[in-house]
Amino acid sequence: MKNSEVKKSTSSNPDHASTLKKLFPIGKTLRPLFQTLAPELEVDEDIVLKSINMDDARRIFDLVDANRKHLEAWLSWIQKLQSVKDSKSFIRAIRYKDVFAGRWVYGIYYQDQLVGMIDFNDGDRDLNQVAIGYWLSHDFQGKGIVTRAARKCIDYLFKEKQVHRVLIKCATDNYRSQAVANRLNFNWEGIDRDAGTVNGKSVDMINYGILYREWLAMNS
Ligand SMILES: CC(C)(COP(=O)(O)OP(=O)(O)OC[C@H]1O[C@@H](n2cnc3c(N)ncnc32)[C@H](O)[C@@H]1OP(=O)(O)O)[C@@H](O)C(=O)NCCC(=O)NCCS
Repeated sequence: MKNSEVKKSTSSNPDHASTLKKLFPIGKTLRPLFQTLAPELEVDEDIVLKSINMDDARRIFDLVDANRKHLEAWLSWIQKLQSVKDSKSFIRAIRYKDVFAGRWVYGIYYQDQLVGMIDFNDGDRDLNQVAIGYWLSHDFQGKGIVTRAARKCIDYLFKEKQVHRVLIKCATDNYRSQAVANRLNFNWEGIDRDAGTVNGKSVDMINYGILYREWLAMNS
C-alpha cells in the first residue's frame, strides 16, 4: 500500500479517528497542564487573563488582522502574522514552564471577549527579571484595561514567581505605552538607542523598571 493510500484510509475512517482520540486525548490532558503552569488571573469583574493555547489561533489572527494598522506602528512581529498558520507558529513558541524562558502569553478578556494580549518576555533568571509587553484592540483603548491587567501580572510575578525586577520597554514616541508605565509608577531608567524595530526602521527604546521592594511600598 502507498503512503497516500494509508493516509486516505486513516483520515476517512471515523472509527479510527475516534479510537486515536480516546487513546491520546491530547487536548484534555494538555489544557489542565497549561492552566496549572499559567493560572488564569482574574483582574476584576470585567477583566480575566487566560493563557493562550492552540484553540485561540483563529481568534488571535482575526483580532490582529482587524487591528493591523494600529498595531504595526509599534509591534514588529505583527508583520510576521499573516495567516492562521502563522498564528499557530506563534502559539507553538509560547513557553509556560518558566516566566524567565521564552514567552508566556495571556489573552486579555474584557467582558468575555478577547481584546488584546499581555506577555512576559526577555526574562533573565540570573538577574531575576522579566519584561512585560501588551497590546489592545484599537476600540478597547481608553478604559484602563491594560493598566489593570499589567498591575495584576506584576503582582503575580513579584508575589508568586519571586521576580525581583519588572521592566517595560517602549519606543520613545509610543506615548500611550509610556503612559501605562507611568500610571504603574515605573521608574524611567534610560534609553537604548536603535534597540527596537518598527516598520523596518530602528527606533530608540525607553527602559522603565520597578523593583519588588518599590512595588510593595506602593501597594501595601
Ligand atoms: C499601549 C496600549 C496598550 C495602551 O492602551 P490604553 O488604552 O491607552 O491603556 P489602558 O488600557 O491602560 O487605558 C488607559 C486609559 O483609560 C483611562 N482609564 C479609565 N479607567 C481606568 C482605570 N480604572 N485605570 C486606569 N486607567 C483608566 C485612562 O485615563 C487612560 O485614558 P486616556 O487614554 O484618555 O489617557 C494601546 O495603545 C496599544 O495597544 N497600542 C498599540 C500596541 C502597543 O503600542 N503596545 C505597546 C508596545 S511597547
